[in-house]
This record gives sequence, structure tokens and C-alpha cells, in this order.
Amino acid sequence: MIRSVVRGVGASLPKRVLTNREMETIVDTTDEWIVQRTGIEQRYIAGEGETTASLGAEAAEAALKAAGLTAADIDVIICATSTPDNTFPATAVNIQNRLGMSHGFAFDVQAVCSGFVYAVTTADAYIRGGLAKRVLVIGAETFSRIIDWKDRTTCVLFGDGAGAMILEAAEGEGTNADRGVLTAHLRSDGAHREKLYVDGGPSTTGTVGHLRMEGREVFKHAVGMITDVIEQSFEASHMTAADIDWLVPHQANRRIIDGSAKKLGIPLEKVVVTVQNHGNTSAASIPLALSVAVADGRLKKGDVVLLEAMGGGFTWGAVLLRW
Ligand code: ACO
Repeated sequence: MIRSVVRGVGASLPKRVLTNREMETIVDTTDEWIVQRTGIEQRYIAGEGETTASLGAEAAEAALKAAGLTAADIDVIICATSTPDNTFPATAVNIQNRLGMSHGFAFDVQAVCSGFVYAVTTADAYIRGGLAKRVLVIGAETFSRIIDWKDRTTCVLFGDGAGAMILEAAEGEGTNADRGVLTAHLRSDGAHREKLYVDGGPSTTGTVGHLRMEGREVFKHAVGMITDVIEQSFEASHMTAADIDWLVPHQANRRIIDGSAKKLGIPLEKVVVTVQNHGNTSAASIPLALSVAVADGRLKKGDVVLLEAMGGGFTWGAVLLRW
């Protein structure tokens, strides 16, 4: 049986760090409020010349290096983003060009904060369906460019960055016997559109627009939706919370992460949390967190890893894999 096995991960963050203290000079807020309500202490903000595609390409290069591969070895690039460099062409095609790659194909996936989970699920389907051998999956965002910097209820939450992961077809033999993506579950429900959306777009206003959010409403739904889809993953894989080595959630805020882990019975020591340093980087948050956990030695070959996310739409989903 063909499985999609992780071959390497990489990350890229903008140069500029914006701390909560600096945020106090931009809007009427305090470090204490932000830390207490969200766990966020700082975020990275893209500067001149830094874009979703440039950050995505840097993360991709880091993942290729970690995997001991070059762009020539990649068949498909899938980029999850809601903040593309341009309405078209796709940011994935821009990244493909930046990597000096003119073979294969590249496209974007748009599922807001669930984007990386959607992209991994898509890559896994390509690999298991025999359509690709190696897929470069990227989550890249510059949410700072769609934030209303006068709205204190949203601007303190988000940051920019990119992460990448290479998935490779493996026959499920030898050392790879039980590695790879085990289950994937995706959900969406457009009835929740008004709770988290961007108030512009090419077909409506002809503008880029700004992010709008009913924070309490998002919070109210988040834990239930996340735990629901994870319980489906447990059922499909015949696993329980006790089998999970690492929960790597979308990093929206500490209270949602802790609430979900608690409800599932996953101890907080097994949860990878980076929201304090990165803020909410939407589709980039999971691969950024994976890169941190690989770099610091927590995440090792053979570990059972659960990825989950929930975001605008609403969209939500979970991927269970053996690293
Ligand atoms: N600084 C100081 N005060 C603030 C700030 C701020 N940055 N923002 C809001 N407040 C004030 C409000 O005005 C309000 O004041 P009032 O009581 O005088 O009216 C008070 O703080 C409480 O506001 P609430 O919105 O009720 O605060 P809450 O405890 O709900 O926390 C938060 C807000 C952090 C946004 C919370 O609702 C939340 O975490 N929601 C989930 C949002 C999220 O994570 N979204 C992303 C997930 S999906 C995705 O990633 C795209």
C-alpha cells in the first residue's frame, strides 16, 4: 500500500519582530491583555520585499535542504494561503518559478487557517492515487497585509510566516512500514461566513479588503469543531488520545489550544505551542510549529502526530500521521 511519508520540513519568518509592547503604541491595548486572552507575546511582520511567495519559497528551500532533495525531485507544489501575492497567478506557481522549477505543476489551496490541513490531505490523495511521487506542501501567509491596524480586536492576533513539508510516496516496507499519513478528515460549513471573513475581494468590491471577526463566536465554535473531527480520526484509525505523541494544532490562541487538548484528554506536555512567538499565522502555523518541534528534537521518526485546524468559512479538519 502506498503511503505519504514526511521527508523534511522547513520554515521562514520575516526579519521584523513586533512585540506586544510595540503593539501598545499602535492601538489601545496592553501586553497583559494580549498574553492573558491569547498567549501571544510577539509576532513577525513582513517588510519591504517580503511577500507570501518569498517567504514560501524560503521555507520550501529549507524543507528541500532538510530532505536532501532539490526542486528537480518535486512533482507537485501545493501552497495553502489566503494572502496570495496576486489574485492570480497562484502563489504556488510563483514559488515554483522562484525555485527554478519548470516541470510538474503547482496550485493554491484556500481554506484560511485550515489551509495546511487541506493541502496535506490533497497531497496525500495525489500520492496514494499514483499521480505524484513527491509533493511540496507549503503554508504561507502575510496576514499583516489584510489586517485593519486600527481594529484592536483583530490586529493583535495575527503574524506572517511560512512553513513547508515534503511528502513522498513510500511502499510501506522496511523502515517506512508504518510511517506516513494515516487518516485525514476535512469539514466546512459556509453558514458561518459572517463570523470570520475579509470584507473585500475581486468579484465584490474590487479591493483586497480587511479581516473581520466576531472573536467570541469563533471561540464558541472552535473547540467543539476541532474535537469532533479529531474524534472521527481516532475512530477511523482505531487510536485513542493515549496513542498520540504530539498534538500540533493550528496556533490561533492558547485558550483554544488548551481547551481542545483538555477535552480530548491529551496532556499539555504533548502539545506543540508556538503561538507565543509567531501569533496566528493562519495556514503557515502548523508547518512552522512542526519545524520548531523537529529543530528542538521533540519530534522524531516514528512519532504519532495529530495536526488540526479550524478557520474562516468555517473550515476545519485533522490529519493523523506517523512521522
Ligand atoms: N486590547 C485590549 N482590550 C481589548 C482588545 C485588545 N487588543 N480587544 C478587545 N478588547 C476589549 C473589548 O473591547 C472588550 O471590552 P468591553 O468589555 O469594554 O466591551 C473586552 O476586551 C472583552 O472583549 P471580548 O471580545 O469579549 O474578549 P474575549 O475574552 O472574547 O477575547 C479574543 C477576544 C481573544 C479575540 C477571543 O474572542 C478569541 O480568542 N477568539 C477566537 C479568535 C481566534 O482565535 N480567531 C482565529 C481563529 S480562526 C483563524 O485562525 C483565522
